[in-house]
Amino acid sequence: MTPAIKSLEEYHKVYQRSIDLPEAFWAEVANDFQWRKQWDKVLEWDFKKPEVKWFDGGELNITENCLDRHLITQPNKKAIIWESNDPSEPSVTYTYRELHAKVCELANVLKSLGVQKGDRVCIYMPMIPELTMALLACARIGAVHSVVFAGFSARSLADRINDADAHLILTADGAYRGAKSIDLKAIVDEALADCLGVRSVLVYQRTNTPITMQPGRDLRWHDEIAKVDNLCEAVTVSSEDPLFILYTSGSTGKPKGIMHTTAGYMVHTAYTFSNVFQYQPDDIFWCTADIGWVTGHSYIVYGPLLNGATVLMFEGIPTWPNNGRFWEVIDKHKVSIFYTAPTAIRSLMAGEHSPKATHKLDSLRILGTVGEPINVEAWEWYHEHVGKGNCPIVDTWWQTETGGIMISPLAGITPTKPGFATLPLPGIQPALLSEKGEEILVNGEEGRLCIKFPWPGMARSIWGDHNRFRETYFSAFPNYYFTGDGCRRDLDGYYRITGRVDDVIIVSGHNLGTAEIENAIDEHELVIETAVVGYPHELKGFAVYAFVVLLSEAKGADEEQLRKEINEFVSRIIGPIAKADKIQFVTGLPKTRSGKIMRRILRKIAEGETDNLGDTSTLLDPGVVEEIRKGRV
Ligand code: PRX
Repeated sequence: MTPAIKSLEEYHKVYQRSIDLPEAFWAEVANDFQWRKQWDKVLEWDFKKPEVKWFDGGELNITENCLDRHLITQPNKKAIIWESNDPSEPSVTYTYRELHAKVCELANVLKSLGVQKGDRVCIYMPMIPELTMALLACARIGAVHSVVFAGFSARSLADRINDADAHLILTADGAYRGAKSIDLKAIVDEALADCLGVRSVLVYQRTNTPITMQPGRDLRWHDEIAKVDNLCEAVTVSSEDPLFILYTSGSTGKPKGIMHTTAGYMVHTAYTFSNVFQYQPDDIFWCTADIGWVTGHSYIVYGPLLNGATVLMFEGIPTWPNNGRFWEVIDKHKVSIFYTAPTAIRSLMAGEHSPKATHKLDSLRILGTVGEPINVEAWEWYHEHVGKGNCPIVDTWWQTETGGIMISPLAGITPTKPGFATLPLPGIQPALLSEKGEEILVNGEEGRLCIKFPWPGMARSIWGDHNRFRETYFSAFPNYYFTGDGCRRDLDGYYRITGRVDDVIIVSGHNLGTAEIENAIDEHELVIETAVVGYPHELKGFAVYAFVVLLSEAKGADEEQLRKEINEFVSRIIGPIAKADKIQFVTGLPKTRSGKIMRRILRKIAEGETDNLGDTSTLLDPGVVEEIRKGRV
């Protein structure tokens, strides 16, 4: 790989060049990889359509770059160190050679099940090495993976399977999560009642939970692997062939299948991994995300493996069997780069506990955060009590749609400020736009964060709905990609993300669409209508507040019982992550004369700001606000 940037001066030079000559800059990075055919054109783009093509005409297979390439130089280096949910279960490692063989085996199984290039494969699995293998096995044969986080409900899973038209599901009997276990196969069975296109289900045995196997459809992973060998020639794909789909919540009820293609995503994740984390060959890199989210795709699977790194993969949760689990794992495996979410930091900093007092943590070199704004207190605690004051923190801003990190310090190089993602990475051209759509050129102002030039890792479409892709990201500000985030650029030119400006709430680092939760609550037979907003929460960043209008039949009903039932609905329809923290029953919602719910007012009430509600004169029935204000829970 091209050596990572080594000084601030070099960063500024490289950044300037990447803006002046973007194609030459990215072509140089792309030259580090193994191509089966060189690209014809580095970049073609039009944000109006929108259409973006990177390295068009090129041919490759990303798994040759993640695996085969390293077999020549470092076959016996550890690729994956896996740590179980249960601290007493031995950890498992795979060298690059072993991982390569496992991926080839599984790819052969997929082929034997009839999977072909371009087919979608849905993956609903626990955080075990076979999950990484599943992604890579799909990529090996040019199939498109669609990973669904194993905390989603049967209904959410079914929607995603049907939207992607997947015919094969990879799953497990169950998943461990702290003290609990989740019956994944039972959830798949329930989902498949609504998925007529699914032909096969491959089931890995992890928890030994009793499961039902449907003959002709369900197959045991171990049995199928036993039938194949471990040689599988990688299929040649084109640069712009889809690599994966990953669903994310949006402003409307239906999740969006964000589609990423192969070559650009590869170049972007590899480059950002090496530069942001200042990766060194002897590093042990641990990203605590689940592979069900983009952070896991880009910085557990692709970014690290493309760099030939050793990556730690953890099945459990930070708070089980106790709050010291992360720190134990760091000491046990001598983790040198640790990448986690502010929500995990906030949950671990509660109380008097200081990890540096109870654990060595002397292997740590670099710390990172991702997924939501980090408050200054959490940043400082992380720096002092985990990093012992001497590990640089990279606060990395990016999104499912951006594919890889966009704005972030380079570890140890960019001077940091708590709460700031600092400066754009080379090749990334952010812009702040005013509500009127004018670019804010001066520093010290806040605006809507947009990106004005394509970057290789950007999403190319929403699966099956290119119109929605254009509407969501390219219509608010013509010729700009709009992120949905608010952002301030300070007088030093440093970027600080202030949070979502649309109807997405980030709860414990997970994006939730308010419309999706509203739809779920509305399915309760006693509910007429719901409005959901977010309110600041000490641990979760934001939490869900639902204002619910009930039918008159509900009069006199036990409100606590109803709240429980409503949350059971949400859990069943979306997943437990989307449950409402507060549910207030109201007789009406504040609406304008044209029938639009005024969420601004509800947001203020949820936040506890009950006096200064702004202009309510355009409301159809201003009286309703008074009632809601008084009944705040
Ligand atoms: O609001 C921003 C927030 O997370 C959103 C993207 O969420 P998702 O697609 O789930 O991807 C999360 C992991 C990349 C962004 O629009 N966000 C992400 N990173 C940061 C952040 N907000 C503030 N600071 C960050 N470092």
